[in-house]
Amino acid sequence: MFLNKFVKCLTPYKVTTHKAWELDSRGDVLKLDWNESTVPPSPKVKDALVKFANNGTMNWYPDVDNKVFRNLLSEYSKVPACNLEYFGSSDALHEYIIRSFVNPGDVITLISPTYDNFRAAAESIGATINYFPLNKDNTFSFSYLDFELHMQSICPKIVYLCNPNNPTGTNYSTEVIEKLVRRFNDVLFVIDEAYYEFSKITASSLVTKFENIIICRTFSKAFGLASFRVGYALGSENNINGLKRIRNPKNISSCAQVAAIAALNDIKYMEDYVNEVNYTKLWFIKELESIGVNTNDSEGGNFILLDLGINKSLVIKKMEDNNIFIRDYGHINTMEGYVRVTIGLKKQMVRVLEVLISLDLNEKTRSA
Ligand SMILES: Cc1ncc(COP(=O)(O)O)c(C=O)c1O
Repeated sequence: MFLNKFVKCLTPYKVTTHKAWELDSRGDVLKLDWNESTVPPSPKVKDALVKFANNGTMNWYPDVDNKVFRNLLSEYSKVPACNLEYFGSSDALHEYIIRSFVNPGDVITLISPTYDNFRAAAESIGATINYFPLNKDNTFSFSYLDFELHMQSICPKIVYLCNPNNPTGTNYSTEVIEKLVRRFNDVLFVIDEAYYEFSKITASSLVTKFENIIICRTFSKAFGLASFRVGYALGSENNINGLKRIRNPKNISSCAQVAAIAALNDIKYMEDYVNEVNYTKLWFIKELESIGVNTNDSEGGNFILLDLGINKSLVIKKMEDNNIFIRDYGHINTMEGYVRVTIGLKKQMVRVLEVLISLDLNEKTRSA
């Protein structure tokens, strides 16, 4: 009754199944449903948190301008410190971008299917969402020329582009992004690089050259800090200052800052994990092909889409029986038979493969 008129008719962002959190013992749980890291963060994170627990200022608000963190982020992302700002997750950053740059009625174009948080945040303040579909081919490829025509007819205020795209893995080269940013210089391009560490493609070199691009990054994926909620923005000084006008600097907890600094002090640990995931993904795709499971040959990111068709519910159930959780994409109407599986270490993905093999899906598809 008291909800604003936009929230009243909003379709909420659909969270993943709650079952993994409900288990008493989490020892052998493989949580592959939200693209989190499948291993704990660098041991340096734990050491730093223990030190903070013993000697830190738990009774103080968090550092509201953490220069050590800011400088490490600048070094890591190779942009000047004045061109970045940290937030309590990239989801929170999406919300700040919406609140800073969008008016009710503004049109926002999403390249779909894609990560849905930006859409929900935008609709909650009365923005109008417009979709440009990826091609319905095996790789969910992006057609630049069609997009150009689409942009000419729609003239959105913002384009949200996830690179690599969750859940399809579609990669956009930096050249394509630069072409778009130059061509549509009155449109703000929000580039979500949540999986940048896995694809190694970034548009970060553009943020000091163009006003109409903001990049969102997170510590929730490759760095393994999803529980702490840390993300950051890369953008022009003007856009960063715009975000700062409404950013609440107390909302990035001290533990989150301590953890993120420690993770940035052990880049090698993160890179070793990323290398294993990228290698395992290629291996896993080959194995899936050999047992007749359709994948989308997903390019970037620590995840893969499987088209299981009529076998989807059976696979999800059997995985859960084995304490493996994967993401059902049935809530998207073009993707009823799809699941998204986070890729982890090879020994973890062997477990997933064993479950799939035990189901003999080819046989079941034939007899259905
Ligand atoms: C594209 C994309 N952006 C952002 C997020 C969330 O990041 P954070 O944990 O920093 O809110 C996700 C998580 O799945 C994602 O896939």
